[in-house]
Amino acid sequence: MKFHIQTDRLILREWRMEDAFGILKLNSNPDVIKYLHLEPMKTEEEALDNIKWVTDQYSKNKIGRWIMLKKSTNEFMGWTGLKLEDMEMNGNKYFYDVGYRILPKFWGKGYATESVIASVKYGFEEMKLNKINAAAHCKNIASCRVLQKVGFEELETFKIFNFQAYWFEYTKGEYFSKK
Ligand SMILES: CC(C)(COP(=O)(O)OP(=O)(O)OC[C@H]1O[C@@H](n2cnc3c(N)ncnc32)[C@H](O)[C@@H]1OP(=O)(O)O)[C@@H](O)C(=O)NCCC(=O)NCCS
Repeated sequence: MKFHIQTDRLILREWRMEDAFGILKLNSNPDVIKYLHLEPMKTEEEALDNIKWVTDQYSKNKIGRWIMLKKSTNEFMGWTGLKLEDMEMNGNKYFYDVGYRILPKFWGKGYATESVIASVKYGFEEMKLNKINAAAHCKNIASCRVLQKVGFEELETFKIFNFQAYWFEYTKGEYFSKK
């Protein structure tokens, strides 16, 4: 399944095997995985497995995360987008989750926010979703800020693995009332 979404500064497209180096660079960086319940990635084989896992979701669910490229240079920046989450979180299963993970050299320039605006638009306008959720470690200020800026509501905190996380929600009604 192919995707090609453009924003002012980004290209959002499907994951490809050629992204393995970028995925490894992203997931092996301790700063990137600081608030994620993940071991650092070590090999390109793990990255290729990760890519297959995401592309399998495209065929199964018609959606999955997108690779984020810098439009002006075509550089790999990380990933963003929607996922049909099958892991139970805060009592929810099979909900549409928005997520994002970007290489540190691109942080603090509004790229995650720009990508989430595009993801939410795709979710509500193309997929006709009723709501989109997200979860973020309570100490992950940048991530929480991205969601707040886009319009997600922070509903409550819950325990996941060994930490507290915020549970966010954005409804179709809230989205279309702002248009
Ligand atoms: C979370 C992440 C994607 C944010 O990407 P980004 O492109 O830097 O995000 P944006 O620039 O769009 O927005 C970040 C906001 O957080 C704010 N912020 C970041 N760190 C902050 C801090 N320590 N204190 C207060 N505000 C902070 C920024 O100022 C900005 O808000 P503003 O526009 O109001 O100034 C990036 O940090 C990342 O990839 N982190 C590692 C992976 C991760 O944690 N993913 C999320 C899992 S839930």
